[in-house]
Amino acid sequence: MRPEGEITRGTTNPSRLRKPDRWITQALLPALRAAERPLVIDLGFGASPVTTLELYRVIRAVVPAAEVIGLEIDPERVSAARRRLAALRAAGAGLPGLDFALGGFELPAPRRPALVRAFNVLRQYPQEGAWAAWARLRAGLADGGVLVEGTCDEIGRRAVWVSLPARGPGLITFSTRLASLHRPSDLAERLPKALIHRNVPGEPVHAFLRDFDRAWDAAAPYSAFGARQRWLAAVASLAEAWPVLRYPPRGGPRRWRLGEVSLPWAALAPPGSTSPD
Ligand SMILES: C[S@@+](CC[C@H](N)C(=O)[O-])C[C@H]1O[C@@H](n2cnc3c(N)ncnc32)[C@H](O)[C@@H]1O
Repeated sequence: MRPEGEITRGTTNPSRLRKPDRWITQALLPALRAAERPLVIDLGFGASPVTTLELYRVIRAVVPAAEVIGLEIDPERVSAARRRLAALRAAGAGLPGLDFALGGFELPAPRRPALVRAFNVLRQYPQEGAWAAWARLRAGLADGGVLVEGTCDEIGRRAVWVSLPARGPGLITFSTRLASLHRPSDLAERLPKALIHRNVPGEPVHAFLRDFDRAWDAAAPYSAFGARQRWLAAVASLAEAWPVLRYPPRGGPRRWRLGEVSLPWAALAPPGSTSPD
């Protein structure tokens, strides 16, 4: 059977997904630990399996029983990844519980995944295709499973992702390297496909980024103490008007200090969209 989806550009880079991976291993840790032998799928790993290997390492460090499968719709990329895995194993790396396979949105795997990470995959699809992919991927999750779908820049300084459970409300998270941030709305160019065309006046995501910029401007005096203090002040003020998550493991000052802010997906979902929840 032909994998569901389209082959797209395979651009990737080592460490570009370190911010979402850190979030996954901290904010989603309870969900990952709840499964006995959680299966994690990295969908659309690209021209090199490097970010799948990174995900494998960070997940196994906190959930040693986890198994990871990198899925790609391009058969040549799957063959290259398998050759790389064989070479690493021949060199003594071991890497138990890691595999690469041909597949798409149908998520072919021995069992349903507790986590699907799909990064920089949907940006090259039409907007309607992205909505449909969300529904399809969520339907393939294990009970209690989560889809993390997002976008980042080439070297992972800025990222935005949604985390959507199999059932129930999702979240959207903005993450940035603070030292190079000019304004919070710089993150607009990394919005997931479902929102990128919605960043226009009248849409919630536009109002959110506008308010975030205003809070950032008002917090300018804090830059004397560094970008982190300015960000913390801006997020605290933003949280008065927007339902920013305030408590661990997904919100609160410890996450804000990392240059992150999360809020319910419903707060930014385009009105009338066919989006989940
Ligand atoms: C830009 S690369 C992203 C690589 C890596 N995830 C990263 O963020 O660096 C996108 C990859 O997703 C693959 N892809 C696109 N649609 C897919 C689908 N439906 N199923 C599996 N892979 C897909 C493309 O072939 C491409 O190799």
